[in-house]
Amino acid sequence: MPAAGGGPGRGALPRASVPVTSGARPGRSRRAAPAVPPTVEPMRAAFVERLGPPEEIVYGELPTPRPGPTDVLVEVIATTVNPVDAFVRSGLFATPVPFPFVVGRDLVGRVLQAGPGAADFSPGDMVWCNSLGHDGRQGAAAERAVVAADRLYHLPPGVDPATAVALLHPAATAHLALFAHGRAALGRTVLVEGAAGNVGTVLVALAAEAGARVVATAAARDAEYVRALGAAEVLDYRAEDVGERLRAACPDGVDLHLDTSGRNDLGTSVDLLARGGRVVLFAGARARPELPAGPLYMKGCTITGFVISHATAAQLAEAAGTVNRLLADGRVRTRSVETLPLSATAEAHRMVEGGATRGRRLVLLPGLDAGGVVG
Ligand SMILES: NC(=O)c1ccc[n+]([C@@H]2O[C@H](COP(=O)([O-])OP(=O)(O)OC[C@H]3O[C@@H](n4cnc5c(N)ncnc54)[C@H](OP(=O)(O)O)[C@@H]3O)[C@@H](O)[C@H]2O)c1
Repeated sequence: MPAAGGGPGRGALPRASVPVTSGARPGRSRRAAPAVPPTVEPMRAAFVERLGPPEEIVYGELPTPRPGPTDVLVEVIATTVNPVDAFVRSGLFATPVPFPFVVGRDLVGRVLQAGPGAADFSPGDMVWCNSLGHDGRQGAAAERAVVAADRLYHLPPGVDPATAVALLHPAATAHLALFAHGRAALGRTVLVEGAAGNVGTVLVALAAEAGARVVATAAARDAEYVRALGAAEVLDYRAEDVGERLRAACPDGVDLHLDTSGRNDLGTSVDLLARGGRVVLFAGARARPELPAGPLYMKGCTITGFVISHATAAQLAEAAGTVNRLLADGRVRTRSVETLPLSATAEAHRMVEGGATRGRRLVLLPGLDAGGVVG
């Protein structure tokens, strides 16, 4: 089980909090903010006092966290809910969290205050982070958040915060899957299953850009979309003969197999692999497939897995370069974004957990609660 943190540390939140709503639908009222320095001003946040279902999420007041010398205090403009945020909140993904624990991993915002050891950042800079809310760090679902300077990146000019925050997690995940764990090589065959989803979209685009021959599976309605991203062949995953079609589409075998659907049918995956091929697992937290050990070792293949939660700050910074390039050129975007007020965080967790967000990303905007301008 994740452990509660000890005494107040970097970005620590004193325990006093004022609940406004508990797992309830969004409210729109807001108290006038007192005219005090940002380090002591209370803020609205979505937090839990213990791990559990979405109903544990309280939307209420917490003190603004205090940045340390190498930290940056950020005004959150947009945050989002990823499947992993529900895993952390429920305890399915075990990671240390301090209570009261602000949920949420990703943010786009504006710098309010930068410590002396955070010289790359100045008040007013537009920035983003995709590694809050786990491993002892407080989360992003608040009006303000403290981010360590080595986990914070500048947002390219002119990029819409809601559009950006929706892409951060899937795009960084796709980069890590291909380049940190998949060792994608130019001219190789990469099979992306679930290619039209959030992560799949970026996997196809990046693998094709890196020179791979991308074979993809997606719903028939998404075939053109996936082809336009750079896939050489797109097969309907619902087709009865999809296995045979995949074998025909990959005559020399698959060098890298990535399944975003979480089905993780290792029998088929290993059968499709070329000699020395690799399966990278990163979805399907509850999957328990059978492993075809014989064919796997006889072909000298590898199965590995990863979660972005374990990526180092250096790996995330490298991925951030790719994410910023994608944000700046705008070619790869999340297909559908729904914006909600921050006070709807519990509802958003319910939707993500219940699978009600298929095909779209939920973006939470603290500015909508304040009734103010977003961005
Ligand atoms: N390990 C990590 O660090 C990490 C990071 C980010 C995400 N993830 C995980 O990655 C997974 C994908 O996330 P996402 O945001 O990309 O989800 P998503 O947008 O829902 O994409 C999943 C895709 O899989 C497709 N699909 C469903 N059943 C399929 C099947 N039998 N064969 C092939 N494709 C199928 C879906 O198509 P339809 O639309 O037709 O249903 C959808 O396009 C999630 O499980 C998430 O938790 C892991």
